[in-house]
Amino acid sequence: MTPFPEPHARAPGAQTPSPVLPYFNQRPAPIIPIRPIGPEHREQLLRHFLALSAEDRYLRFGYAASDERIRAYVDSIRFGQDVIFGVFNRKLDLLAVAHIAIEPGQTARAEFGVSVLPRGRGLDIGTRLFQRAAIEARNRGFRQLYMQCLSSNAAMLKIARRAGMTVHNEGGETEAYLALPDDDYQSHFDALLENQTGQIDYWFKALMRQWRCFWLFGRCAQGVETA
Ligand SMILES: CC(C)(COP(=O)(O)OP(=O)(O)OC[C@H]1O[C@@H](n2cnc3c(N)ncnc32)[C@H](O)[C@@H]1OP(=O)(O)O)[C@@H](O)C(=O)NCCC(=O)NCCS
Repeated sequence: MTPFPEPHARAPGAQTPSPVLPYFNQRPAPIIPIRPIGPEHREQLLRHFLALSAEDRYLRFGYAASDERIRAYVDSIRFGQDVIFGVFNRKLDLLAVAHIAIEPGQTARAEFGVSVLPRGRGLDIGTRLFQRAAIEARNRGFRQLYMQCLSSNAAMLKIARRAGMTVHNEGGETEAYLALPDDDYQSHFDALLENQTGQIDYWFKALMRQWRCFWLFGRCAQGVETA
């Protein structure tokens, strides 16, 4: 058997180029705790959407949604059929929300919509929510993830193109599709892991919040969400 070559001792002060180790040399992606959310978070969803500026509402919904329209939209979310993912900050406010809308009877296509509050932008949260939505749609047997946005929405188009979506520009509107492969063991495992991470992060933040209230006021605030 040929022995492994002996590594040479590095001369003091010598600059050696670092070897490229494809996996270990990569900077790990920061963990973004994404968790599915249910009707118990309707209030937080409402606060999230109401916090969007007029311009962001236009980008998110395709029209300048009034507070009333936003209330109606949040009330109309069909939890159980649609899927909502959220990213919470340490105060348990929703920093970002992704909505996978599934039309009744539709088995091939799911529609994606997303919003990230300005203070959370540029941190990859939108990209990661898109990836999470694609895994979820795939695991539910959908063949296509569809998205609609304004053609002027440079950030969203960047996310779409980076994800390999097919993009069609039609005047001021853009439609984009991502063809989804069949689900497999890995895609279900990824979803499970992400949900667990998001859930643990949420519990931890809820606990810290209760602990802080207890420390400051000697009692826990009512309505601290632990679900
Ligand atoms: C679109 C949106 C979800 C992006 O969220 P985000 O968390 O900032 O997204 P990411 O950080 O994952 O990526 C955004 C990318 O777009 C880039 N970007 C942001 N604004 C941009 C602009 N005006 N022009 C070009 N690129 C832009 C960012 O630099 C980033 O690219 P990078 O990762 O190479 O640096 C967020 O801006 C938003 O909520 N907008 C209002 C609602 C909306 O438009 N929803 C989409 C309709 S479905």
